[in-house]
Amino acid sequence: MNVGLLQLLKNNRGNWLTMEAIAGSLESGPSVVLGEIEKLRQIGYLIEAVPAYGFRLSGCGQKFNADLIEHGLGTKRIGRKVLVYESTNSTNDVAWQYAMEGGWDGLAVFAEHQRGGRGRSQNRWVSPAGSGILCSVLLEDMSRDMGEKLTLLAGLSAAEAVEDVCSIRTRIKWPNDVSVSGKKLAGVMVESRKIDNAFTYVIGIGINCLQSRDDFEGELGNTAVSIRQLTGGDVDRLQLAERLLGRLDYWLSVVNGEVPGQQVKGLHDEWLCRCDEVGRRITLVSNGQSYTGRVVDVSVAQGLLVQLDNGAVKVFDSATTIVMSR
Ligand code: BTN
Repeated sequence: MNVGLLQLLKNNRGNWLTMEAIAGSLESGPSVVLGEIEKLRQIGYLIEAVPAYGFRLSGCGQKFNADLIEHGLGTKRIGRKVLVYESTNSTNDVAWQYAMEGGWDGLAVFAEHQRGGRGRSQNRWVSPAGSGILCSVLLEDMSRDMGEKLTLLAGLSAAEAVEDVCSIRTRIKWPNDVSVSGKKLAGVMVESRKIDNAFTYVIGIGINCLQSRDDFEGELGNTAVSIRQLTGGDVDRLQLAERLLGRLDYWLSVVNGEVPGQQVKGLHDEWLCRCDEVGRRITLVSNGQSYTGRVVDVSVAQGLLVQLDNGAVKVFDSATTIVMSR
């Protein structure tokens, strides 16, 4: 694969590049350029060619490809290694298998199809083959208190990735839904285990991309939505996956204090900008007990802050809380 050519096309994604411009940039002749373009097409890139305009990258094939995702990712930690499965039980399960082996921090697992995809609260996550982004990211050697932070940053990253790549304005519902006009577009699930005295996390993210209404089972047809339904067009799932990993990497660095001038408060503020819940009445169940009150804030480290009807402010963590109504 000609990395220089791919980068040039990616930097000008959607715009035409003349043969002269490409050949000049690569310092190669037209026949070499044509050969390299053909190689990129063979591994899944959609490169249009029109004699009067030249060439342009219009997307990638419908299938995920680990090399294509890894290439040019530019992340520090997330997606150091990418695995793609045609079909697996759950990408979270795969990530946990690698976690048991150790040494796979930052691994990102994608699948075209899951036979036993799961969501929060023992829900299933069903997505027809090739229609969504089904992704799990493994984080090793973490501290105990990362669960809430990872839940928030993963939801925000998914919301931002969809917004950046598909130009759709997204909202976030605590703790884990990315929604558009009240319908669920993506979900996040964070699992943790203690392995060798440190905490290991798997962040599972599902984004509905190419589904039609009929692809959502039963009541989900009314409550879930895909990017294709919203835009009426195709989605470059590869570009969306890359952007998702990029945003996860960025926000994880922020949370770890590795981005100069950015603090955890930045995550809090960005998350809150996308959330319509502050001020709303909400009913939640935690440890078998039901609570009703008004949302006052979110704590990045602890969870949702709700002023209960008796005036007390109670913190609800995402791992043990179910939202009943909002
Ligand atoms: C939710 O909204 O309840 C969370 C859904 C998380 C679904 C993703 S899809 C990829 C990963 N593998 C799974 O089995 N679940 C998560």
